[in-house]
Amino acid sequence: MGLNGRDEHHSPSSAKSPRGGGGGEHNSPPISCPRGGAVSSFLLAAALLTFSLSIGITATLAVTFSTSLSLCPMQALFFPATSARFVQPESDVRPPGADVPRLAYLISGSRGDLDRLWRVLHALYHPRNLYVVHLDLKSPVEDRLELATRVGNNTVFQRIGNVEVIRRANMVTYRGPTMVAHTLHACAVLLRRSRDWDWFINLSASDYPLMTQDDILHVFSTLPRNVSFMEHTSNLGQKAEGRAKPLIVDPGLYMSAKKEVFNVWPARQLPTAFKLYTGSAWVVLSRDFVEYVVWGWDNLPRTLLMYYANFVSSPEGYFQTVLCNAPSFVRTVANHDLHHIQWDVPARQHPRALGLPDRDGMVGSGTPFARKFERDDPVLDVIDADLLLGRGRNGTAAGMFVPGGWCGQHRDCGAARANVDDWVLSPGPGAERLRRLMDRIVRSQAFDGSQCK
Ligand SMILES: *[C@@H]1O[C@H](CO)[C@@H](O)[C@H](O)[C@H]1NC(C)=O
Ligand SMILES: *[C@@H]1O[C@H](CO)[C@@H](O)[C@H](O)[C@H]1NC(C)=O
Ligand SMILES: *[C@@H]1O[C@H](CO)[C@@H](O)[C@H](O)[C@H]1NC(C)=O
Ligand SMILES: *[C@@H]1O[C@H](CO)[C@@H](O)[C@H](O)[C@H]1NC(C)=O
Repeated sequence: MGLNGRDEHHSPSSAKSPRGGGGGEHNSPPISCPRGGAVSSFLLAAALLTFSLSIGITATLAVTFSTSLSLCPMQALFFPATSARFVQPESDVRPPGADVPRLAYLISGSRGDLDRLWRVLHALYHPRNLYVVHLDLKSPVEDRLELATRVGNNTVFQRIGNVEVIRRANMVTYRGPTMVAHTLHACAVLLRRSRDWDWFINLSASDYPLMTQDDILHVFSTLPRNVSFMEHTSNLGQKAEGRAKPLIVDPGLYMSAKKEVFNVWPARQLPTAFKLYTGSAWVVLSRDFVEYVVWGWDNLPRTLLMYYANFVSSPEGYFQTVLCNAPSFVRTVANHDLHHIQWDVPARQHPRALGLPDRDGMVGSGTPFARKFERDDPVLDVIDADLLLGRGRNGTAAGMFVPGGWCGQHRDCGAARANVDDWVLSPGPGAERLRRLMDRIVRSQAFDGSQCK
């Protein structure tokens, strides 16, 4: 469905629920179960109840069971009763929507990116999430001030208070360690800012979403919170010679004007204390893993950060190598970067810019994000119109947001208030595409079979 674009025109009120039933109105997870599931969990509960009676334990356990009754077998697999989120004191009433996760986005740009960063921020905006936006030191100071002013002057951003501008801009060299340092900086800002987000997502001003935040939040609410998405392999191929052995120095670490990285000699050997991995620089990291990397109670993330200081294109290896050398995280990684990216054949340094002819490919990929796009490419208007519910159609500030459950029945996104109904989701066809992708990469044999190989 949707490949030819015919099914893509819809509004939240007419959108069919991806799970069928429910009429499509403001669904919020947990979602109803497939029919077989209710029966088997009933039998399970009955068996457990008998067991508990036989060993003389009373009402308390029965209460626990009634919670597990409402879970689908699959969800029960992902959220076992031992999950911290489900073991709550009985008096503690869980707020509505507690199962809906929060995403923490970093959106980075450079010189000339002010307007497209602003556009991406609106295309991604949802009051439940957190956003850190950054224009690097290469961008004019006026642009950085303008970004801060726009955020400060936006009534919704101010009322909800979930958009943060990094004011002291970082020097960022794309192939150098300053990029990794910048990403870690944003992670640290987000950890300090809130104890309450679930995934960190790294994007740039030349990325764009292919579905609504309601779609993404809806599907992510069905995932175990410990899953990270990171394309990776230990098969370095050419990169062993071209990247792992050469030593570079990034002047961005210590000069106030931008210079390119330079090589120093002699080259080094491949490491033996840990195994190198490489992959995509676009990552979606679980909060657990971000804490592990940023807080550094284990020395591995710190050691590797220092090792990667002299590594060519460290953003395509740092997180992969940390995760795959940390045994407690290996089983949590899905080998995918959740982006639709088109590489030329043979691959060049940068991916091909996406345009109108790529529309079907983008929709068919089921990924939540794509890159990269030229500034104001017409395909972005098509994405706004077809995949993002007509975002920007009315030209008003409120119309710039992608309408979602949070905008209420009257679709008045401008009236949103902090912590009010931000968990009410209105997923559309994008959620169905993403669910199918997750079935392939997380809820399948491929998940265990492709980790850190
Ligand atoms: C990830 O979380 C799920 C659900 O909480 C749990 O069953 C699984 O064991 C966890 N995996 C790892 C490697 O910790
Ligand atoms: C702030 O917004 C108001 C109206 O929303 C506008 O008139 C004003 O020019 C804006 N100020 C700046 C500095 O952008
Ligand atoms: C994060 O996003 C930027 C885009 O600004 C990208 O270039 C960078 O390599 C990404 N990844 C990491 C690991 O920093
Ligand atoms: C545009 O405005 C009309 C009329 O006020 C409204 O019905 C419609 O939902 C708005 N569209 C968007 C995308 O905000």
